[in-house]
Amino acid sequence: MPRSAAKAKPTAKSRTGTKSGTTRSSGSKGLALITGASRGIGAELAKQFARGGYDLVLVARNAGQLLDLAALINEEHGRWATTVAADLGEPGAVQKLRRQLQEEGIEVDVLVNNAGLLDNGDFTDISLSDHLQLIELNIAALTALTHQFLGPMRQRGSGRILNVASLASFQPVPQLAVYAASKAYVLSLTEALSEELKGTGVTITALCPGFVRTGMTTGGTDGGDLHLPSVLMLSPEFVAQEGYKACMKGETIHVPGLGGRLVAGITELQPRAVRRVTSGLLGRMLLKK
Ligand SMILES: NC(=O)c1ccc[n+]([C@@H]2O[C@H](COP(=O)([O-])OP(=O)(O)OC[C@H]3O[C@@H](n4cnc5c(N)ncnc54)[C@H](OP(=O)(O)O)[C@@H]3O)[C@@H](O)[C@H]2O)c1
Repeated sequence: MPRSAAKAKPTAKSRTGTKSGTTRSSGSKGLALITGASRGIGAELAKQFARGGYDLVLVARNAGQLLDLAALINEEHGRWATTVAADLGEPGAVQKLRRQLQEEGIEVDVLVNNAGLLDNGDFTDISLSDHLQLIELNIAALTALTHQFLGPMRQRGSGRILNVASLASFQPVPQLAVYAASKAYVLSLTEALSEELKGTGVTITALCPGFVRTGMTTGGTDGGDLHLPSVLMLSPEFVAQEGYKACMKGETIHVPGLGGRLVAGITELQPRAVRRVTSGLLGRMLLKK
């Protein structure tokens, strides 16, 4: 199904919280804003940050799933969590989110850019509007969020950003052409900013997992429909644990798992033309619909 046909609308427009006002939990380490927190890797990242002592702002389109997660975080981890149902692919959504948080006096100490879309298949079989929707979310919204929240972090002299990139960031991937290109952008932006941010007290990390068992790869949600052997998949819990640790250490690039690190290492050593041929083979063998 083309993603546009299955596109969910935010089910609530305004911010809703598990606790009223901005009273935060005592002993909080800070506040982490996590996009794409309603399911998959984002929901697991939210649990990791809660375990690590962070209060949370959870953002995605599905208000119900966000509220369920916020309640669970509140009950199981004793942390304050609030939700914002927003379609980050809509023009002005990021600016609106920033204004909402400013009005409530909420400062973001950690920004986790996790929300993302994937379409697989021949480039021309995927509609132009789906390609553009992916670019809006994976590239434009991530850039806008980084721009909106990085400035205040620099002024305060502290903060962390975790960008969820992919193993696909390291090479072009036929059948995932626009997705892989969007993730190459995320990795490149992260590396450039990590150098700009040296000595500022702010760190930025690109998390680059291989295939992860979520709706994105199992066809359960909009966009992706990869149907890969389970043995090739990482669990979202493991990826989130690795992402949290890498973000806390301020690593610039983190590839979870030995297999992923081997693939990334070998890819980096290959001349560009060889890399293209290998990823062409992979695309035809594993990803062709
Ligand atoms: N799964 C993998 O194999 C894999 C591998 C490497 C990297 N990644 C990256 O990991 C991140 C999370 O992916 P996942 O595997 O956890 O996928 P997922 O289960 O499909 O989750 C995607 C998340 O993004 C949110 N989202 C989608 N469109 C949105 C929009 N327009 N505005 C706001 N939120 C939106 C979804 O929530 P709503 O539908 O409620 O909005 C959901 O919470 C993505 O950036 C992905 O590219 C995934």
